[in-house]
Amino acid sequence: MLNTQDLQKEIIKLKKKNDVCILAHAYQTHDILEVADYVGDSFGLAKEAKEAPQSTILMCGVRFMAETVKILSPEKRVLLSHSEAGCPMAEQLSVEELKRLKKKHPNACTVAYINTTAELKCECDVCVTSASAVEIVRNLPNEEIIFIPDPNLGAYVKAKVPEKKFYFIDGGCPVHGLVTKDDVLRARSEHKNAEILVHPECSEDVVSLCDFAGSTTAIMGYVKKSDKNEFVIGTENSIVQHLQFEFPDKKFYPLTKECVCKDMRLTTLVDVYNCVRGVGGEEIVLDEYTLKNARRAIDNMLK
Ligand code: 13P
Ligand code: SF4
Repeated sequence: MLNTQDLQKEIIKLKKKNDVCILAHAYQTHDILEVADYVGDSFGLAKEAKEAPQSTILMCGVRFMAETVKILSPEKRVLLSHSEAGCPMAEQLSVEELKRLKKKHPNACTVAYINTTAELKCECDVCVTSASAVEIVRNLPNEEIIFIPDPNLGAYVKAKVPEKKFYFIDGGCPVHGLVTKDDVLRARSEHKNAEILVHPECSEDVVSLCDFAGSTTAIMGYVKKSDKNEFVIGTENSIVQHLQFEFPDKKFYPLTKECVCKDMRLTTLVDVYNCVRGVGGEEIVLDEYTLKNARRAIDNMLK
């Protein structure tokens, strides 16, 4: 039986031998982050996917992230670390519903949060991530914006770009949706010296009561720059653990214990081991139409 360190050493040896680049979303567990070539938020992962020189890319995260890698590097072999790791929010809207919405608002620019299926991206003008949404939407020439699928991130962008008119759908992240206003009020009274940092996928109510909202990487960057010593974190709870490793002298508390993404938790270090030795994961295959049309929206984001 291998222990964690032996397994990590084997993974590092095998990824070099088999020319595999390991990309890990920041919500993955710490043992996986330690063997990754790059760790980051969705925006950073998309940029890195384009640059990585290896012939195989293993995406430790959820399906839309692996699809984004494939769209950006169609010539590469792209593996999703666990075939059942999806993002419930990415699948909330059908192509038909989006087409209906576009018909209703013909002058609007269709902006897709990157947490969407490749199929939906084909119908959109530009993708955004939580780290890039405000800047991209602000710079669009259109006055009207159809923002799919997350109305919470949409409301966050709308507050920063009030001059535009937005159309949303019902939905959102079921995990960040578990964070409530009461959690924030409780955290304020229990941790009086702490700053409260949340992901903009939390509801408008929650975001408005907190000290900072940003992508997973932005939250980590905020802590690095801050001279405060205590923080309450309102995003997937893996970030609480990663921050504690990076800043052992500071204190971190989850805003709620409920904020756990089951899909992000599916991948284990053994899955990573199996993927780099060629017996695990799911190879992402997309047809020519999807590769070409979804790429336009992602390229527009990276531009
Ligand atoms: P980031 O944009 O911060 O990577 O978030 C992605 C995500 O799935 C958040 O739930
Ligand atoms: Fe999707 Fe929410 Fe999980 Fe992020 S945390 S992958 S948005 S379900």
